[in-house]
Amino acid sequence: MLEKNLKKLRIGTRAILAAGDFNYQNIRSHIVPLFQTVNFDYADVEEGLAVFNRERPGYIYTRYSNPTTDLFGKTVAALEEAESYAVAASGMGAISAIMLSLLKPGDHIISSKQIYGGTYTFFQEHLQALGIDISFVDITNDDEIGDAMQPKTRVLYTEVLGNPNLIIADISGLAKLARAKEIIFVVDNTFTPPPILSPLKLGADIVVHSATKYLGGHGDLMGGIALGREELISKVRHTLEYYGGALSPFNAWLALRGIKTLAIRLERQCHNAKIIAEFLQDHDHVKKVHYPGLPGHPHHEVAKRQLNGFGAMISFELKGGLEAGKKLMDAVRVCRFTVSLGEIDTLIIHPASTSHAALKPEERLAIGISDGLVRLSVGIEDMEDLLEDLRQALQQAG
Ligand SMILES: Cc1ncc(COP(=O)(O)O)c(C=O)c1O
Repeated sequence: MLEKNLKKLRIGTRAILAAGDFNYQNIRSHIVPLFQTVNFDYADVEEGLAVFNRERPGYIYTRYSNPTTDLFGKTVAALEEAESYAVAASGMGAISAIMLSLLKPGDHIISSKQIYGGTYTFFQEHLQALGIDISFVDITNDDEIGDAMQPKTRVLYTEVLGNPNLIIADISGLAKLARAKEIIFVVDNTFTPPPILSPLKLGADIVVHSATKYLGGHGDLMGGIALGREELISKVRHTLEYYGGALSPFNAWLALRGIKTLAIRLERQCHNAKIIAEFLQDHDHVKKVHYPGLPGHPHHEVAKRQLNGFGAMISFELKGGLEAGKKLMDAVRVCRFTVSLGEIDTLIIHPASTSHAALKPEERLAIGISDGLVRLSVGIEDMEDLLEDLRQALQQAG
């Protein structure tokens, strides 16, 4: 019989065993089955009524819940040590459902200003349109957070590592502050999943992931999840049900497959990232490297105390600016020129010539994106191949 007490297992083992064994009419599927179905049948009225009345376990309709998406939720809940979960079609699906379930017109939230652009836009355009006020702050500055606090503040929101300079939010400190003010602390843990960090254990109220990134890990699915106490998460589930943000069973199945290698992927990714960051730091064509694992990073001490590994995201600035950035992108042969992050391969992007090309240089600088800034999401390739690729590409970039 499989170990049921998941807490006594380490994260790597938990990720493999959390979905449990599956016995359906004496068919013991070794791998979680894919319930690619919209609805569920009932043998008779008595059974149907009991399921509808929640008197008996069972399923009704996949927009509400589904066995495969539930097993994905259960697995991530085991990793984050969460009481409850709400699964969503994407990270944005989870983030929007959290906010829509916690907030009402007239409320106010404080958010780190260094968050994923999609989240920023959702807060600024969509929440404001609903009459919810936002203050964007430097999340590493307690005074700024204190000044932004209002009697109507309901939520404090941050990512653990903030783009583009990979600032680190002090999760335990922020959790204390939020608790003292009786506001809900929401942490996007997409960049630093367990075993790197478990924000609920440090006092966060809700953790959210874009499962599209490290949890899935292979760039082949979209998914999201919110985790925390049932009292809060049941509201998120309810919102998702009626805004239609259900996770597809197939994507959940892919995510369950990906999660099994999460710990080992992260170990290799963090290892590769540290070596690459050190290599870049010593390179003549590189002006600055932003990586929390480097002693010169402004939040290195917080990172050391809080994280188990420094993550696998690096950004660096080229001395040659915009032109050097473009040449680097044309020159890479192993690193893949694309958006997103957290995949098994190393992904590289130069915001000034892609995602942020429409902005003026001074507008980019205002959000920390210099013309020569390049972002790397480090993968699991052989280290030497990555170093050789970056060496030759940097040489060509000048
Ligand atoms: C930190 C972070 N949170 C949330 C999201 C949104 O996730 P998704 O694209 O799955 O909606 C992203 C996407 O890049 C992200 O980087």
